[in-house]
Amino acid sequence: MKKLERSKTSYFFSGVSGEVLPADMVSIINSYVETENLYSSAIREITTKLENLNDEFKYTKDRNPIHQINSRVKTPLSIFRKLQHRGLELSVQSARENLTDIAGVRVICSYIDDIYLIADLLTSQDDIVVIRRTDYIKDTKPNGYRSLHLIVSVPVFLSNRKELVNVEVQIRTIAMDFWASLEHELTYKLTDRKTESVLKELKECADVIAETDIRMQNLYNNIARH
Ligand code: GTP
Ligand code: MG
Repeated sequence: MKKLERSKTSYFFSGVSGEVLPADMVSIINSYVETENLYSSAIREITTKLENLNDEFKYTKDRNPIHQINSRVKTPLSIFRKLQHRGLELSVQSARENLTDIAGVRVICSYIDDIYLIADLLTSQDDIVVIRRTDYIKDTKPNGYRSLHLIVSVPVFLSNRKELVNVEVQIRTIAMDFWASLEHELTYKLTDRKTESVLKELKECADVIAETDIRMQNLYNNIARH
């Protein structure tokens, strides 16, 4: 049997008390630990649902629509920066109320059709509520970014209550992920040196990649039909 994983945040802050730190700091740390646990649990719920669907496809259709699943809980620094940037109150409660991407799950699919298949199967489960759906594949972002974004709410059962927790699910193909990862890295490095020619080159790469995704989908459809 698999060894139970312990929350890194709980481990990191274990034993923190009013004896070693100021009381207000202890209270902030505790509320972050609680929040981190809650959002990690929500990620586990969503990931399990996705893994179950993928496993079912393996034995019913002998194929896996999902290539890889990555997830993360936003770091306190990143939460703080986003709240500050939006001029919102800097507190755990404000983060929970205002940010929809504290828990993030990225689903990398093999083919374009798999994105919509997985999105439909996940969102039709009766404990999932769709808060927002943004289709950057049909409405490609001007820079060339493509992905299907869902904000869903999932119930997390705690010892004394049930909490509905928002999770941002980004679903994309391997090709879309390849572009998004490199674009993120490159534009992060460039910051204020993003020239017209660099942005144009990135957009052209995105379009070539998108065309290849469609060709691979057609190839799959033709092969699967025979
Ligand atoms: P954020 O404040 O960034 O969360 O924007 P938003 O709430 O309007 O959400 P949106 O759906 O536009 O983007 C959310 C996430 O999608 C980002 O945090 C990135 O992970 C990803 N994303 C969106 N646009 C781009 C892009 O142009 N390039 C890359 N590499 N990733 C993007
Ligand atoms: Mg975000």
